[in-house]
Formats: sequence, structure tokens, C-alpha cells
Amino acid sequence: MKPTVFITRKLPEEIIAPLKEKFTVRMWDSEDVAVTDYVLREEIAQVDALCTMLSDTIDRDMLESATNLKVISNMAVGFNNIDTEAAKEKGIVVTNTPDVLTETTADLAFGLLLATARRFNSAEKELRQGGWLSWTPMGFTGMDVHGTSVGIIGMGRIGEAFARRAKGFNMHVLYHNRSRKSDAEKEYQAEFAELDDLLKRADHVVILVPFTEETKGMIGERELALMKKTATLISVSRGGIVDEVALYDALKNETIFAAGLDVYETEPVPVRHPLLTLPNVTAVPHIGSASVKTRHAMMQLNVEAITDVLEGKEPENRVV
Ligand code: DGY
Repeated sequence: MKPTVFITRKLPEEIIAPLKEKFTVRMWDSEDVAVTDYVLREEIAQVDALCTMLSDTIDRDMLESATNLKVISNMAVGFNNIDTEAAKEKGIVVTNTPDVLTETTADLAFGLLLATARRFNSAEKELRQGGWLSWTPMGFTGMDVHGTSVGIIGMGRIGEAFARRAKGFNMHVLYHNRSRKSDAEKEYQAEFAELDDLLKRADHVVILVPFTEETKGMIGERELALMKKTATLISVSRGGIVDEVALYDALKNETIFAAGLDVYETEPVPVRHPLLTLPNVTAVPHIGSASVKTRHAMMQLNVEAITDVLEGKEPENRVV
């Protein structure tokens, strides 16, 4: 009997064709709507391989019933949606899709910084609503990006790609990371800073750390209070790193200038979320890696990892 693969979202036929040649492939039949908990549990109990999205929560309880499951390949670089400890205990390999999304995600992060600091969203909204009555000397003035300082929290692959872009804008790069990055210090003249120091000094703060027990709630009321009144905060890795209640207060009371958000504590972010009522928030729906080429490359990595594990080979991008 051929091994069975379940894919939790509808992916392009041409990309999954190689899987179909070798294995029995079942796929959730919608691109827009997430697989139901019921179906996911049923499939986990039966299949040999699972291709998951970052929006699927695969917890210990779900993995209890997995009897044949050998690999979970997550279509994301982040894998906080999967209980990797539980997977490891059951000998299930977990893979992710790094590298191919680095530059695309850095593009989004930098674009979001520009849009937020220069207030693209409120300017466009006003224009579309017919509110552009005349050019005004101080209308829609925001904060400069070029020639300012940026504080990158999390100097991993995407952090470095962001630093490269920042250098092109003549920015001074401060960074905070678990370990010093001497290459980045040389290449981008990046300056290591303790978190508090970075928050006090940066004109723009970009969050690029993964979501872990250590980074959960890392930016709360105390940290936001350290930031400049003119500073922007860009959050593009995972929700839950920034305390959204504290962020709302800081933006509402204008103790920071603006925030650009791609990720949220709850996704999809509820449309009535208080942060979405604020004019100094630029919000996009978790689209860091969303270019056609990159999303296809991520899917390709999932296909390869699943094939490798089911054929008894060591996959690339194994996280446990
Ligand atoms: C990831 O892959 O973890 C990114 O958040 C996708 O945009």
C-alpha cells in the first residue's frame, strides 16, 4: 500500500503532482477556508505525512492519535503552531521552509516600515473618501526613514536581509539578538545593543524574533514606554511577542508614533479589534512571504521534505 499524505489547504496541482506520482494524496478542498478540527484529527490518526499551514494548530492531544505519521512539513519558517516536543517524543519529523522566504519577508517588513512611518494608509483612505481638498503644508506628514536609526530585534536571516535594505537607506542599524553577529556588525556596521538601550535609541523598531516561551510578551508596557514618542514599531514575525493591550494604549496615547502590523495574537485578527480602530496603525494580514514565487518555493520544499521522509531519506530543513 502506498503511503498517504494529507495537505491541509488546497495547493496548486502542478506543485503537488510529484507527490501524487508516488503516494496517495488527500487535500483539503479550499484555499481560503481552513481545514476543520474534526477532519484534521481524522487525517492525523491515519496518514503517513502531513503538510500543514501556519494557521493549523497541531498540539499534543492531536498527535496522541497519530499511529502512522512520520512527518509534518509546515509551510512556514515559523513552527510555533506545532508541538515539536510531542512530535519528537513520537518520532515524527517536523520540517519548515526557511531561506526561500527570507528576501520576500524582508521586503514586506521594509515596505511596512515605509508605509507606517510615512502614513500611507491614512493618506490613501482620505484620498479615496474625497477628503483631499488641497495640498497642505503639514498634511499627512510622517517620520523619515532614510538616515534614521533602526533597531532590529532578532538578527536572524530575515533580520540581516532587513539590515541590508536599511543600509541602502543610509540608516544606522542597532540590533538585539541572543548572540552577537560579528558578520552583520562588519557588513552593515550594525551595533549590538541591549534591548532597553535599543528601544530608547531607535527611531524605528522591527520585531523579527521567533515566537517562543522566551519572546512571548517581550514587548510590553515597560518596553513601549522606553521608545521615542516619534518612533514606529513594526511587527512581522509572530503575534504574541508584543502585548496588544499595551500597544493599543501606547498608540492611543501617542507615546509612540505608529505601528505596522503583519501578525497578531489571534489570526485572522478580529475586524473589531481595538488596534484596527486607530489611524496610526497600518495593518496587513500576515503576508510576509506572500509573493507568488516565494509561496511556490515554500510548497516545493514541503513536497521535497515529505518525499524524502517517506522514502527513508534525511530531509532538509528538519527542525526536530
Ligand atoms: C513564516 O513563514 O513563518 C512567515 O510568517 C510567513 O509569512
